Parts: sequence; C-alpha cells; structure tokens
Amino acid sequence: MAAAAGKQTTEGWSSRWGFILAATGSAVGLGNLWRFPSEAGTNGGGAFVIFYIFCVVLIGLPVLLSETLIGRHGKADAIESTKTVARDSGASTAWSALAGIGMLGAFLILTFYSVIAGWVIYYIGLFAGDVATSIGNGALLGGAFQGESLEQVQGYLPALFADNGLMIGLHALFMAVTVFVIARGVGGGIEKIAVYLMPTFFILLIGITLYSLATGAAGEAFAFLFAFDPSRLLHGNVMLSALGQAFFSLSLGSAMMITYGAYADRKTNLASTSAIIAAADTSVAIIAGLAIFPIVFAAGLASDSGPTLMFQVLPASFQTMPAGSFIGLLFFVMVLFAALTSSVALLEAPTAWVMKRLGLPRAVTAIGLGILAFAIGILSAMSFNSLENWHPLNFSIFEGQNFFSIVDIFTGKILLPLSAFLVSVFVGWIADKRLTDDENGISGGLHLTWRFLIAWLCPIAVGAILVFGLIS
Ligand code: PFF
Repeated sequence: MAAAAGKQTTEGWSSRWGFILAATGSAVGLGNLWRFPSEAGTNGGGAFVIFYIFCVVLIGLPVLLSETLIGRHGKADAIESTKTVARDSGASTAWSALAGIGMLGAFLILTFYSVIAGWVIYYIGLFAGDVATSIGNGALLGGAFQGESLEQVQGYLPALFADNGLMIGLHALFMAVTVFVIARGVGGGIEKIAVYLMPTFFILLIGITLYSLATGAAGEAFAFLFAFDPSRLLHGNVMLSALGQAFFSLSLGSAMMITYGAYADRKTNLASTSAIIAAADTSVAIIAGLAIFPIVFAAGLASDSGPTLMFQVLPASFQTMPAGSFIGLLFFVMVLFAALTSSVALLEAPTAWVMKRLGLPRAVTAIGLGILAFAIGILSAMSFNSLENWHPLNFSIFEGQNFFSIVDIFTGKILLPLSAFLVSVFVGWIADKRLTDDENGISGGLHLTWRFLIAWLCPIAVGAILVFGLIS
C-alpha cells in the first residue's frame, strides 16, 4: 500500500534521535514552563498532578502514537498523509479534515505564541542588563534588581504592555528566527536547532532546579505540588483542565505530530519513540514546578495564574535569591530555547502543506506564512494594551474576551480537541487495522490496550473536553 507518489516528502530526520529531540522540542514549551506550574497550583496540587499523569498515559500517549503513525504511513504533509491512510483503508478522504483543523490550530497558536516569546526576549534583556550592573557593583552574588522595590520589579510587565512598538518588535524578531529555521528545512533547520538547544535546555533545567531546591523553599514547593487533596480530584473542572493541558503540552490535535511523523523512517519504532516524547514532556513539566516554586515561596510570594507567575512573581522572586540576576538570565534563556523549538513545529505543520499545495519553495512559503502569522499576532499583542477591551466576538464562550483570549480559547477548547477527537475515531474505527497495526511497533497485550484506548477511552474523554469546554 504505497502513498501517492510525487506528493511524498523527500525530507527526513537524519536519525531516530533527531526525531525524538525535535518532537520533544515541540512538546516542551511555554506550556510546560509556565502553564503547567500555575495550573497545578490553582487546581489542587497533587490531585491535579496525578490526574494529569493519567491523562498523558491513557489518552495522550495513544493519540500521540496514532498521529505519528498516520504521518509515517503517508510520508507527506499532514493533510496528504491522512488522505493516504484513508484511501488505503477504503475510507473517504474527507477524513483529512482532521489534519486541516489541526493545522489551522497550529497556525493560530503560532500567532500568539510568538508574542509571548517576545516577552521572554524582553526579560532576557532585563536580566542581562542586571547581570552587567551587578558585576559593575561587585554584587553578582546578591539578588536580582538590587535597590529596586517589589513594585518596581513587578512594574516591568505593565511597562512592556504599555509599549506597543516594543512588544510588536520583539514579536517580529522571534517570528523572523522561527521563519529562518523553517526555511532551512527539516534536517538543516528543525533537527539542527533541536540537537543543540534541547540538550542545553535539559542541562539548564536540571542545574536551575537543583540550585532552586538548595537555596529556596523546597519543602513548601513539594507540598504545594504534590500534597494530595482527593476532594479536589473529582471536580469536573480540574479533570478537564488536566486533560486540556496534557493535549496542549504534548502538541496533540495540531497536525504537528503527523507532520513530524512523516519525516521518520520505516525502521523507527513509533511506540517507544512516542513513549520517550511523552515521558520527557511530563518530566519537564513537573521539574519546572520544582524549579519555580522554591524560588517563589522563598521570596514569600504566592503562585498566580496566566502571565503573572512567570513574568511578575518570578522576576520579583529572583530578588531574594543568591546570584538571582544570573540565575534569572539563565532561566529566561532556557524558556526561549523551549519556545523556539515549539514555534518551529507550529510553523512547520502548515508550511509543509502549503508549499506542496501551491508548489512554492520552502523558504518562500515559510516567509509568507510567517508574515501572515505576525500580522494576526499584532492584534494579540495589542490585546494587552489598546485592544484590551475590544471584544470582536461577543457571544457564547467568547463573550467578554479580547482578541488574544479568543484565539487561545478557540484553539485550546475547540480546534485541538476536535482534531484529536477525529484522530481517535479515525484510527480507532475507520482506518484499516492491518495498516495501523503494521505501523505502530507494538504487539500482544500492549497492542490490545492501545486498541481499546484509542477506540473507546480517547474519543469519549476527548469528546467530553469538547462538550464541557463549550458549555462551561
Ligand atoms: N506543546 C507546546 C507547549 O507546551 O508549549 C505548544 C505546542 C507546540 C502546541 C506545537 C502545539 C504544537 F503543534
């Protein structure tokens, strides 16, 4: 059962590790470093963490394997690969809509992801400046922003928000780097940066976490993240938050794992590779909590949600940490690396499709899509400023939301779960079992378990996120 010749990709990873690092790079991003810790904190600590791990293993992992196997069978962009699996299964090629929905989701996430990554660049600048000042004063071993009040340090974020030009400029800079990587291709761009940035990221994360546990309030952080309060677990909202976060964090429902799966060779065992990616992503989320909260609690501050935890509470917390400006600088550099390996994945999914579809060179496609995503992202950047109270879709779940929040809700609560729901129905019920079983690399009891999960648990659980997300 061969895929349609001519539409197949000729690009690929140079090794299995290239694939693992690139896909892990996509999964590990702002979602792990900033969203997971604040979600865990506000949703009941240990109860959330345990339920999150269940979601990753029982729902995320089967969907992740399904997405990569669709890509690897089709060996083309996500839409074309899904069509090939449908065709080879005697099913309607309309199932490729699942990839189209995911691709739109990936593109829209990119529009605001780059804005937030721009803030990260701003904080790198702030901390770099502070390191220089501290060295000048011979006080590098003291805390960050010495001599500044808490209000002053927390005031950097509103100051950035007040400066539309700066926010848009940094957004442009980050998008330009993302486009540059994608223009260089799969092996020469995506894989190359993953091979350099991901190991560096892991070293920084472990180093910062150990330092944070040693110098900060480790006991309080452990209690906050892992204290088990079962009364919180049965709360519907907590469960749905955990499932939604697991999807976003594993980059599921965004056509992206289908796209990266297509670059994997036939020898790659997709099941064990998917397990490594999911395990790495989940470990990073939990370790990120153990890096951030000891610093925050040692400063006597509290967890907070949204941008506040990473961009206000944390910088202020570095004030009381020994060598705080240097560690703060390393921290934001680490966040930038994670964001970049995710943003390239977000751009690659639509680029792979558009370049084949329109017959354009990769670089031209990447530049075109990058400019479009940048332009739409300007509205998200301005949602923290002059467009804060602009509510362009004032109905239903979008009521009272500004542009940034609308894109966030539309992708996180509708597009990604819808695409992942269709993936599980497609692989669980529609696709030819001989074909999917041949690709997945598992047998025996594990195989039966995967079959059961992808056909039953995944569609029901993901269907639930969709429905509850829409009505709550
Ligand atoms: N998984 C990324 C994160 O946790 O930040 C976000 C993401 C990247 C979602 C790539 C979807 C995607 F295709």
